[in-house]
Amino acid sequence: MYPDPNSRSARLFERACAVMPGGNTRLAVYQDPFPIFVAHASGCRVTDVDGVERLDFINNQSALVHGHCFQPVMAAAAAQLQRGTCFSGPTDAEVELAEALQARAPWFERMRFTNSGTEAVMLAVKAARAHTGRYKIAKCEGAYHGSYDFVEASRGSTPANWGDARVPARVPYSKGTPPAVGELTVVMPFNDIEAAAAILEAEAGELAAVIVEPVANRPGMIPADPEFLAFLRAFTSRVGIPLIFDEIISFRLGVAGAQAGYGIVPDMTTLGKLIGGGFPVGAVAGRADIMSVFDQRKGSPAVPHTGTFNANPVSMVAGLETLKAFGGQEVGRINQTGARVREAIDGIFARAGIEGQASGAGSLFRIHFTGRPLTDYRSAYPTPAAQAAVTALHKALLNRGIMVSANCSGNLSTVVGDAEIDRMLDAVARSLAEIRVPA
Ligand SMILES: Cc1ncc(COP(=O)(O)O)c(C=O)c1O
Repeated sequence: MYPDPNSRSARLFERACAVMPGGNTRLAVYQDPFPIFVAHASGCRVTDVDGVERLDFINNQSALVHGHCFQPVMAAAAAQLQRGTCFSGPTDAEVELAEALQARAPWFERMRFTNSGTEAVMLAVKAARAHTGRYKIAKCEGAYHGSYDFVEASRGSTPANWGDARVPARVPYSKGTPPAVGELTVVMPFNDIEAAAAILEAEAGELAAVIVEPVANRPGMIPADPEFLAFLRAFTSRVGIPLIFDEIISFRLGVAGAQAGYGIVPDMTTLGKLIGGGFPVGAVAGRADIMSVFDQRKGSPAVPHTGTFNANPVSMVAGLETLKAFGGQEVGRINQTGARVREAIDGIFARAGIEGQASGAGSLFRIHFTGRPLTDYRSAYPTPAAQAAVTALHKALLNRGIMVSANCSGNLSTVVGDAEIDRMLDAVARSLAEIRVPA
């Protein structure tokens, strides 16, 4: 049973605390009172250091779209390891991965690889600024676009500091964020065209870009209204600035990402997670004229970009194998299963007479303890009682052998079958029956 103070995880955490602040080097995988240390994993099953096996509906924050140790990826990575892990020179693997991405989304005219999604977003912002000669970036309240000052504003705002819903406060996420960052980051409400329009119009002359997730993950796994994205597309086109779609999570929703489903072509797209097949990766893809800020062929580029491990061949071959096995059929299949999961969770809440629902899209879901319509960060922001229920559900699921994120969000890999889905749904039903939920 978690948390067991005598478990190996507990002891490892104690050791970790003596060498890392908070015993942690990745906040997203921390859980109170200590994280569960992993020993190994295969397919949709993860075994912890105490020998407990659980079904994985996190898949390293959605990076493992084929689950753990997917054989084609393992074989390609193992073969690459024998040829070398990184070189002071490009490889054919990066060209092939870029070509594979372009084949899926031909409007990815040029691409640049990084080691993380955060870096991809940083790079997209730098490109937009260099391209437009302006500095301000507009983002949606509560959105997470990586650990980067300029896109972190309002990521963690609370009812105590978030201000007017129609003009959200620009609340820094980290202490020590220079005030200038707040001056250059414009925060707008998600899915509210009228309020966003007022904010964006007032800043139009100074904006370098608008960045948005087609499905807002951290704010609550909430799909954008098609009209909201269409509005952002029209606004950015009219004022001549790049529209950046952050598809680091949502790319899995379509062969060419969520953007294809919406029928909206952004100027730049940030990618990560699944396109590295379980190895570190990020990418920015977009219009050739904007991406030319990185082009060194005619002298020093407008945005010099380098990185010791950029486009490292292990990530590139792993990403390529992942994409090869993630065509329209596989995308459609896990998206359909996702719809079944969300519907089933809604049914479980209804039958239990508990206010709650599942949000999400395609193969992504999140469980909420509220019945109100979820449209943005504020509508999905849990009350203290709802948050306590989320935490209790997370723990109850863990003890039934089911892994979802601490905020009860999850995603489906291609290797999860009906039996595992049924087991997860059964665990949700049984867990809901035993935890205390808000009245
Ligand atoms: C939408 C979004 N953007 C950016 C990032 C940052 O990516 P990374 O963790 O690879 O730096 C994440 C990570 O979860 C994300 O969900």
